[in-house]
Amino acid sequence: MTASDRRDQPIAMFDSGFGGLTVARAVIDLLPTENLVYFGDTARYPYGSRDRRAVQEYSAEITRWLIEKHQPKMIVVACNTASAVALDELRSMVDVPVVGVLEPGLRSLLKVTASGRVGVIGTVGTIASGAYRMAAAEMAGEVDLTSQACPGFVEFVERGDTESDQVKVLAQRLLAPVRDARVDSLLLGCTHYPFLARTIGEVMGRDVVLVSSADETAFEVKRLLDEFGTTRGPSSAGSRRFVSSGDAESFASLGGRLLGPEMTHVESHSWAAP
Ligand code: DGL
Repeated sequence: MTASDRRDQPIAMFDSGFGGLTVARAVIDLLPTENLVYFGDTARYPYGSRDRRAVQEYSAEITRWLIEKHQPKMIVVACNTASAVALDELRSMVDVPVVGVLEPGLRSLLKVTASGRVGVIGTVGTIASGAYRMAAAEMAGEVDLTSQACPGFVEFVERGDTESDQVKVLAQRLLAPVRDARVDSLLLGCTHYPFLARTIGEVMGRDVVLVSSADETAFEVKRLLDEFGTTRGPSSAGSRRFVSSGDAESFASLGGRLLGPEMTHVESHSWAAP
């Protein structure tokens, strides 16, 4: 397929569930004419507390399915945990660009820091992988990065609880090391954390800039489409398809609240039993 044949092919994105919709929102806003397929693996969510190998296998299976079923022109791994442990393997599997959320997020973080003391928070899987530390060392050399896993944050968001006293107490405890490190900017290195921004912001204090990966990832998608000559022209609004491996109805109801009016219908896809 030539680059111009690929223009109408969709951008395919996936996450363990609906958290990656923060990235989908940014891509839709920046590139409204692009066709998009979003896959939320809610049947196997959460990824953040799973074994590294399991997340790699799930990510590879989803990527193969997206390629076979939707022939996308690009894959966006809209999940920090999957980006942290599976990106290289996915890139070697397919012949279309694969974009993760780690590097774009870090780039934003490095742009906003004045002191060079920065923080990143994420799931246990993401932080334990060391992927942020390695990428930061590559991108910025001597940056002073404090990283901290925040187990429990995702579950609060899932319950729709983003500002209760309980979540604040947890945030105070988990964020203490990044506060003590006197970072001036903090990367929300998990797709769910933007929903906790108010609570995290209160705990960290006004002077700390909170950075999310979504916008910068959308810019990276645009940059690569332009580079590969596969940007869809300013024809008509793009189509959007949403697929969930779990209950499609509940995905539509929660996902619709998070994403907005574009989520009119959710298709389901079941993984064959092993
Ligand atoms: N999507 C995951 C991430 O960004 C968070 C939810 C999960 O643990 O699956 O790391």
